Amino acid sequence: MITEIRETAFAKLNICLDITGKMDDGYHSVKSIMQSVTLGDQITIIPKDSGGYFAKSNIKYLPTGEKNIAVRACRLFKQETGEGPDNAFIKIVKRIPVCGGLGGGSTDGAAVLRALNREYRVGLTRTELEAMGAKLGSDVPFCIAGGTVLAEGRGEVLTRIDPMPNCPVVICKPEFSSSTPELFAAIDKLKFRARPDTEGILAAISAGDLKEIARRMFNVFEYALANNRSLMVSELKSRLLDLGALGAAMSGTGSAVYALFYEAETAKKAAMTLKNEGHVSIYTQTMNEIEI
Ligand code: C5P
Repeated sequence: MITEIRETAFAKLNICLDITGKMDDGYHSVKSIMQSVTLGDQITIIPKDSGGYFAKSNIKYLPTGEKNIAVRACRLFKQETGEGPDNAFIKIVKRIPVCGGLGGGSTDGAAVLRALNREYRVGLTRTELEAMGAKLGSDVPFCIAGGTVLAEGRGEVLTRIDPMPNCPVVICKPEFSSSTPELFAAIDKLKFRARPDTEGILAAISAGDLKEIARRMFNVFEYALANNRSLMVSELKSRLLDLGALGAAMSGTGSAVYALFYEAETAKKAAMTLKNEGHVSIYTQTMNEIEI
């Protein structure tokens, strides 16, 4: 009998993020190179005899019931495969800053699907799990296996590309939190001054050239922020560059800003400096695809 399942839910970064159109259902089509990092939430699924599905985390205001994506993932897996627990307590130790554009919720959902598939020996393939994940949210499919991926459609059309050269990363979270639906609505009213050079990044990734990747990091959602927020993000980016980063950008719909570094020592020092200045600042590293 399975008594406890443990899984790490890794955060995602958008190396670049472009909006390419709007679909009939109101969703936006995106073009983004996504990358996972070793920073992750710790998920523990404990099957129970009764009580349905229930989640609890170290962040008081996160939903515990059906609004929690980990709970929805458990229910969806059971519905679609007939496998997995009927009742479970899902413990989430949140390490990924919440409302940061780092896929914190999506990756918890993806981790639940991945863990149940493995522990209950269901044998779904990566693609099958990704399709199931798409029913939970647009970023969930990427979070199933992570690594380096070109995401299109509403985020669920994934093309595996060469892995990005592994490098140190510093993630900083400004004091405001972003609402994904609000930023998607705000972006409709904008005309972009510039767009990411996605093809250039793809070529730089193939060449394994971190400098050329970092030089092109770019997220159109930075345009959709209100003035004071936009200022906070640009100041944090400049600060990271001053501290030795190769490039910096906001991730997803924000508000987290992250930077790529060449050397771990420089990145660790930068993270420490920003922490001492009162910022939420985390040192982490990029990582390759997870085996399903
Ligand atoms: O798919 P997900 O639940 O993560 O999306 C949250 C919200 O973000 C959607 O309700 C929609 O307003 C917006 N969104 C969008 N286009 C996407 C992804 C999300 O408009 N590609």
